[in-house]
Amino acid sequence: MITVFGSINMDLIATTARLPKPGETVAGTGFATAAGGKGANQALAARRAGSTVNMAGAVGKDEFAAPAIALLSEAGTGLSKVNHVDGPTGTALILVGGDGENMIAVVPGANGTVSPDDAEAAVAAMQPKDILMLQLEVPPAAVEKALDAARKKGIRSVLNLAPLIADAPHLGRLADIVIANETEFELLAGQEGMTAGDREAALKRLHGETGQTLIVTLGADGVIAIRDGELVRAKGLKIEPVDTVGAGDTFCGYFAASLDDGLDFETSLRRAAIAGSLACLKAGAQPSIPLSAEVANKL
Ligand code: RIB
Repeated sequence: MITVFGSINMDLIATTARLPKPGETVAGTGFATAAGGKGANQALAARRAGSTVNMAGAVGKDEFAAPAIALLSEAGTGLSKVNHVDGPTGTALILVGGDGENMIAVVPGANGTVSPDDAEAAVAAMQPKDILMLQLEVPPAAVEKALDAARKKGIRSVLNLAPLIADAPHLGRLADIVIANETEFELLAGQEGMTAGDREAALKRLHGETGQTLIVTLGADGVIAIRDGELVRAKGLKIEPVDTVGAGDTFCGYFAASLDDGLDFETSLRRAAIAGSLACLKAGAQPSIPLSAEVANKL
C-alpha cells in the first residue's frame, strides 16, 4: 500500500504555438482545466499502475475542490486524509508550447495549510510494509515531519525533489529513495552544469555518503540510478511529445507502485520510464497518465 503525502491542484492550461519570452504576449491556441498537483498526479499514477493508494493533503472550499480530486476518487484512491480547509484549492497556471515544453506557476492555496500534524497523522495510519511518497509542493516542515515519522516506523520513503526549493538538499538526505530531474540533482549534489560523467561521479559520491537509492530522470534519455553500489540505467520510449506536464509524476507513481508490487529495481525503473513516455502523448497531467495494461504492452 502507498500513501502519497503532497499537493493537489487544479491546472489551468493554455496551449500556444510557442512559449512567450519574459514581457511578451503570445496568442493562445486552446484552454483546458484538468486535475493536477504533483502529489495527486503521483497518487493517481500509482493507483493506475495497480497499487492501493491513500492520498493525504488538502483542498479548499471553492469550485475547484471537487474537480481537483474527481479522478482520484473515480480511481478508488483513499481520500480520508485529504482536508477540506477554508480558502482556495491550489492552482497551477500552465503554458504548453508547440514542442510540448511547458512553463508553470503554482499558487499553493490549501496546499500551504498542510502541517507537521497532518504528516504525523498520515504516517500513523500506515503499516511498516507500506511506501510513503512525497514531493515538495507542501510546506517543507510537513515534509520533514513525514520523513522523520516514516523513518522511526521503518516505512520506506520515496521523495521526489520537485519543484526545486532551497530546502531540497536537506530534505533529500532524509528519504530512503530520492527521485530528481537533472536540475534538481545538481542542487542536491551542489554542482551546476554537470556533464554525464560529472553526474555519475556525483551519484557515486552521494550514494557512498548516505547509502540512499538515487534516481535521476533525464527526459528523452531515460533514467540513471544508483542502488547498492551499482549504477543502473533504463530507457523510456522514443516519442514525439505533445505535452510533458505530469510525465515526471507518472514516472514517480509507477516507480513506487512497481516497488510496492515487488518488482525488481531495474524492471521498476523501465516500467516507470515507459509510463512517463506514454504520459507525454496526451494533454493534461492526470488525463494523460496511462493504465497499467498500456504500459505492460510496451515493456
Ligand atoms: O508536475 C506537474 C504538476 O505540477 C501539475 O499538475 C501542476 O499542478 C504542478 O503542480
